[in-house]
Amino acid sequence: MFDAARGGLRLRHGGRVVRTFESLSELTTAVAFRICDDKRLTREVLERVGIPVPPGRTATFDDADEAFLAEHGELVVKPARGEGGAGVTVGVTTADELDGARHEAGGRSADVVLEAHCRGEDLRVVVIAGEVVAASVRYPAAVVGDGRLTVEELIRARSEERQAATGGASRIPLDDTTRRVVAQAGHSLDDVLDEGVTLPVRRTANLHTGGTIHDVTDRLHPALAVGAVAVAWAIDIPVVGVDLVVEGVDRPDFVVIEANEQPGLANHEPQPTAERFVDLLFPNTRGLHQPPERQS
Ligand SMILES: Nc1ncnc2c1ncn2[C@@H]1O[C@H](COP(=O)(O)OP(=O)(O)O)[C@@H](O)[C@H]1O
Ligand SMILES: [Mg+2]
Repeated sequence: MFDAARGGLRLRHGGRVVRTFESLSELTTAVAFRICDDKRLTREVLERVGIPVPPGRTATFDDADEAFLAEHGELVVKPARGEGGAGVTVGVTTADELDGARHEAGGRSADVVLEAHCRGEDLRVVVIAGEVVAASVRYPAAVVGDGRLTVEELIRARSEERQAATGGASRIPLDDTTRRVVAQAGHSLDDVLDEGVTLPVRRTANLHTGGTIHDVTDRLHPALAVGAVAVAWAIDIPVVGVDLVVEGVDRPDFVVIEANEQPGLANHEPQPTAERFVDLLFPNTRGLHQPPERQS
C-alpha cells in the first residue's frame, strides 16, 4: 500500500508489480487520463471519430451563451473538470438560471461546458480491456411521501438508507441544489408529502448524491455496447466508465456525456467488475480467481 487512505495500492503477483488508485492503474496513460479529466477534450476526441455527443459549447459568459440557450431551450451546465455531479445544473431554461449555473460551475473549474439537455435514461457502461463488463441504469435521488414526514425528514431518512446500502458511498446532501430541485417541483423542505407521492430531489443521477443504480447488463442493446467500446478505443483507455443518455436500455440511440477514468467497480453486482480488473492487471492469473464451476 502506498496511500491506503485514498485507495492507493501496490499489487504484486509473481514478479509483476502494479500500482492502483481504486480502478485507476498504471496501465492508464497520462494522456488518456487527461482526455477524461476535461469534458471539453473528451467531447472533441469523441466527436472527431463520429461518436454522438450532445450539442455543446464552452461558456463565454456573453450573448453567445444565451443564443445557445435560445437555440436548445433547455441546457445542462457543468464544470469542464469535475466529478460526482458537483457543480452540474440540469434543466436550465432561463437567462437567470443560466447565469447562476455558469457561476456555480465556474467556481469549480476555470472552464464551463454548456450542453443541450438530452432526455432519456442515464446509463453507465463499464468497459475493461475493450469489453463491456457491466451496464447500469441510474436514477436521481427521490423520496416517497407517507402523509406524516416533511420533505426534509424524508430526505434524511432516505439518505441514511442509501448510505447503509452503499457502504457510505451514496448520500443525499441537504444543500442549495436539493432545495432548488424541491422548490422547482413546487414544494419546500417543510412540506408534508402526501402518502405515495414520489418527489425527485436531485436531477443528476450520480450515485454520490443519493442516486440509485440498477444492473441492466443482460438487456443492453448491442449498439450501446458497441458505442461504449468505441469510446474506450477512441480514448485508448483500458478501464473506463462511460456515461450515456439513452432512449432506453434496449434501444439503439444514445449520446455520450462523459468518460470516467476511475469508475466505481462496486455496486454493479452481479457483474464481475473487480475480477475483470484483476485479469487486466495480472493477465497470467486469468480465471484462477473464479469459482471452480466457472473454470474451463
Ligand atoms: N447533456 C446532458 N443531458 C441530460 N443530462 C445530463 C447531460 N449532461 C449531464 N447530465 C446529467 O448530469 C449528470 C452528471 O453529469 P456528468 O457529465 O456525468 O458529470 P460528472 O462528472 O459530475 O458525473 C449525469 O449523470 C446526467 O444525469
Ligand atoms: Mg458522470
